[in-house]
Amino acid sequence: MLSKYIIETYNLTKIFKLKKGRDIVWIKANDNITLKIEEGKVYGIAGPNGSGKTTLIKILCGLLLPDRGSVIVDGYDVLKVKRNINVTSVNAIFAIQDLIQEFIGYIGRLPTYKFLKYCAYYMGFDAQKVETGIDEALDMVSLSGWKDEWPVKFSTGMLRRLELALALLSDKPIYLLDEPTTHLDPLSAKKFRNILKILAKEQGKTILFTSHLMDDIEDVCDRVVFLKNGKIIFEGDPEYLKDITYSKEVIRLEVIDESSVLFDRLKSLDGVLEVKKLKSSNGLGIFNIIIEKDNADVIPEISKVVLKNGSSIFEIRKIRPNLNEVFIKIYEESEQDET
Ligand SMILES: Nc1ncnc2c1ncn2[C@@H]1O[C@H](COP(=O)(O)OP(=O)(O)OP(=O)(O)O)[C@@H](O)[C@H]1O
Ligand SMILES: [Mg+2]
Repeated sequence: MLSKYIIETYNLTKIFKLKKGRDIVWIKANDNITLKIEEGKVYGIAGPNGSGKTTLIKILCGLLLPDRGSVIVDGYDVLKVKRNINVTSVNAIFAIQDLIQEFIGYIGRLPTYKFLKYCAYYMGFDAQKVETGIDEALDMVSLSGWKDEWPVKFSTGMLRRLELALALLSDKPIYLLDEPTTHLDPLSAKKFRNILKILAKEQGKTILFTSHLMDDIEDVCDRVVFLKNGKIIFEGDPEYLKDITYSKEVIRLEVIDESSVLFDRLKSLDGVLEVKKLKSSNGLGIFNIIIEKDNADVIPEISKVVLKNGSSIFEIRKIRPNLNEVFIKIYEESEQDET
């Protein structure tokens, strides 16, 4: 029976040997990684510097071979087919980046659409698809206005977009991208994420990308993989990760005509763990009220206290933690555990 997963790794381990002065140090860049990637989904790989993200992506596209474990991509055993996995199944950003860099040295003074065509032919992409798809690909990455300009004039962010345009001209089902949004301004990064969404949701492509920007992951990923010292410490839905990371919730309360006793009254409410008063520039009294998770009874009590003390509610809502906070909390706590 065919697997429903388009990528599967089992106990993947990669060890690097590093010389430090006279000593030799062994680094487990990937440590027993077992991962099942569903087709048509976007996966984000996150983790601190050196946690093994790039190593994992390189192994999946056959650029590095693991020391132990197995890697099946699109039905192929990568340990056997090695880099050829990029010919059949994978748009690996490393290969594309290298090719574009090299070609810029030779033909970087051709109009961009011609440049892109030559790159695509060199990569063996279907000529018909390249011919008919080039305008759309340049349009998707917002480079249509530059199609007659030379790629030598491109900024770093524009080159990132050109790389993606080249990948878009292929028929391959998998995109493996290492920090694709680095160097993109916030608007370009958002457009880039939208392209990833279209590729996954409308064209059924599978995308794995690494990022340090939790905005990327939150906005586009169906699932996130958190790595630490080469090991997976979480794999799953980013929303679920938020839910399990915090045992407390924060209620943001904004009141008109704040009474002088309100802060103390809120603090003494049953179920309230802590109250923080925030600075306000618009005359409203603003508080963060920390409560136990899923203690819904507290919110009506807060409202009552506000009204009883002569103030009125401008806004009251739960603050959902963002993934950036979750990242910091998880890795800060695990650093403390080690000390
Ligand atoms: N060619 C190599 N030789 C020796 N050690 C290496 C090599 N490549 C990576 N490493 C080590 O493997 C570990 C994982 O590196 P990797 O580049 O995969 O991390 P990363 O999560 O991508 O980090 P970053 O966020 O900085 O990009 C690091 O300790 C790194 O020093
Ligand atoms: Mg890296």
